[in-house]
Amino acid sequence: MIDKINALKAEIESLQASSSEEVEALRIKYLSKKGAVSLLMNDFRSVPADQKRAVGIAINELKALATEKINALKEATESSDNDAEGIDLTRSAAPLPMGTRHPLSLVREEINSIFRRLGFNIAEGPEIEDDWHVFSSLNFAADHPARDMQDTFFISRNPDVLLRTHTSSVQTRVMEHSKPPIRIICPGRVFRNEAISARAHCFFHQVEALYVDKNVSFADLKQTLLYFAREMFGPETKIRLRPSYFPFTEPSAEMDISCNLCGGKGCSFCKHTGWVEILGCGMVDPNVLDACGIDSKVYSGFALGMGVERITNLKYRVNDLRLFSENDRRFLREFSATR
Ligand code: DAH
Repeated sequence: MIDKINALKAEIESLQASSSEEVEALRIKYLSKKGAVSLLMNDFRSVPADQKRAVGIAINELKALATEKINALKEATESSDNDAEGIDLTRSAAPLPMGTRHPLSLVREEINSIFRRLGFNIAEGPEIEDDWHVFSSLNFAADHPARDMQDTFFISRNPDVLLRTHTSSVQTRVMEHSKPPIRIICPGRVFRNEAISARAHCFFHQVEALYVDKNVSFADLKQTLLYFAREMFGPETKIRLRPSYFPFTEPSAEMDISCNLCGGKGCSFCKHTGWVEILGCGMVDPNVLDACGIDSKVYSGFALGMGVERITNLKYRVNDLRLFSENDRRFLREFSATR
């Protein structure tokens, strides 16, 4: 009898289980009414009187051992069952490191939102263009230097396929397919055949605005420009328009804003003039309206175009254009506090 008990003890000590079902099976096998330990108890009656004490102690020890072992197995498998179910949904997540928005995206979004508030919609066009949309429809003379390979990346010639040199091409695309009133802004990337340096790059970004309707006047343009300048650079900002020339606008102007670094007093940034140039603009040339199928006797419009890098430079003092496309994380991280 004692040998039998010892054999069972050894057996129980080495028990293992990997799920709660297995533990329950073991409990039935050893501890239930018909289990191995109970059967031993039944046999106890036939143990000779002089051995009863020793056998009784051994059986009790066996029972305690079996109970302890099975409880331990139960605890272990229950906690691993929970793991298998997976996840504690009440735990807070590990913090994800936040990325930063690219400064050009930040500024483009700000420009877009200012014009959206004035009722402009966003329009986009392709970066690979033809001569008509980039030059001919916009009144560029046949011998205009921009059509030269030195300024423009041509993909093929005759018929000309090229990378757009400005977002003014989107003006044509929209006017060809819609009727006034037209109020759009066109953000996008443009390409020019320039040697890369701190001050020039072979690609950069522009935002173009176009408003065509009956009775659009230069006063509308001026008011739009003033609103934009104040929203972008602060309510104290002054604007100044200088006569200029673009093939697609007549009259044409360039807009300066009062230097936002020295407040117009004069500093090295504004070359001591108190003014910095930020964009080109004008009244859409009647030739352009007609070329795009809009009757220039009925409608008039204004257009303006600005470089996003230029505005970003003014807002954030990024003096080297190459920083915008190098993806140096030390530079990009500086914009982490900006939304
Ligand atoms: N397309 C011109 C450029 O790339 C910028 C520009 C000037 C756009 C005057 C306009 C405008 O719409 O009216 O330099």
